[in-house]
Amino acid sequence: MKRILLTGRNGQVGWELQRTLAPLGEVIALDRTQFDLADPDAIRKAVRAVRPDVIVNAAAYTAVDQAESETDLAMGVNGQAPGVMGEEARALGAQLVHYSTDYVFDGSKDSPYTEEDAPAPVNAYGRSKLAGEQAIRASGCRHLIFRVNWIYGLHGKNFLRTMLRLAGEREELRIVNDQFGAPTWSRMIAEATALALGRPRPPEGLYHLASAGHTSWHGFTEAILALSRHLRTREPLLTAIATRDYPLPAPRPRNSRLACDRLARDVSIELPDWNDALRLCLDS
Ligand SMILES: NC(=O)c1ccc[n+]([C@@H]2O[C@H](COP(=O)([O-])OP(=O)(O)OC[C@H]3O[C@@H](n4cnc5c(N)ncnc54)[C@H](OP(=O)(O)O)[C@@H]3O)[C@@H](O)[C@H]2O)c1
Repeated sequence: MKRILLTGRNGQVGWELQRTLAPLGEVIALDRTQFDLADPDAIRKAVRAVRPDVIVNAAAYTAVDQAESETDLAMGVNGQAPGVMGEEARALGAQLVHYSTDYVFDGSKDSPYTEEDAPAPVNAYGRSKLAGEQAIRASGCRHLIFRVNWIYGLHGKNFLRTMLRLAGEREELRIVNDQFGAPTWSRMIAEATALALGRPRPPEGLYHLASAGHTSWHGFTEAILALSRHLRTREPLLTAIATRDYPLPAPRPRNSRLACDRLARDVSIELPDWNDALRLCLDS
């Protein structure tokens, strides 16, 4: 039986992975107290103790705005720790599965980004995640990196849960309508990861993984409100605003769309349209 070391068990994707990875082997799911990505010695010690066949790294420093002022911590967790895991994986002959982000791109392209497009992150979080990808490649381990975007789910801190809460509290929701991406359910990412790992020859390298279709944060909110109307006694007013009207510490790419053709072609995995997945998520 395969031994699968899972980090970030309490995160959005990590929480779902505990279930989807279970049929593939023995899952040793660790949280921050058992596996601190800010501590390279602790990482080495934990990996050597578990001796996994596969490491699935769902942990990350994901506070995009805070990363602007905690650059060293973000770089340690997102940029350096994946490289340490890669070195340990290589020594054991294990495979490393890792998640990266659309924020490695600057968003200036007019169509979806492919795996061949040159990264050019515009914020500290994006730079730290790009460094993580590079460190994994440099480690020489067998690896699978999924770049994902706009994750939401039933568990953890995310846009869907925030909007459901604010819709019941506020008279008006003012939401950005000039950033574009594909809202992607954490469960779909976890299912796709397990499907890929369950293949007789699991894929290796870099793959974009996102829902089909795209929308803006405003369009996503419109869909959330429409699908959850029955839960409220009154409706908030939804107003579209521009990114410049909602200043945040970290700049965001305007275009976060990821082209997922490589995953469809090589691994026969395609996620459903973001709106259909949102309906499934809210139904559950
Ligand atoms: N969320 C998005 O929209 C998005 C978009 C693109 C890419 N991604 C990437 O997708 C992956 C999964 O994201 P997610 O949304 O599931 O993240 P998440 O919900 O924020 O979960 C991240 C997990 O990492 C853990 N963590 C943070 N710092 C740690 C440390 N120093 N040591 C050990 N664990 C630590 C957190 O632990 P605690 O529970 O203790 O805080 C949490 O469980 C990440 O690689 C992320 O960069 C996310």
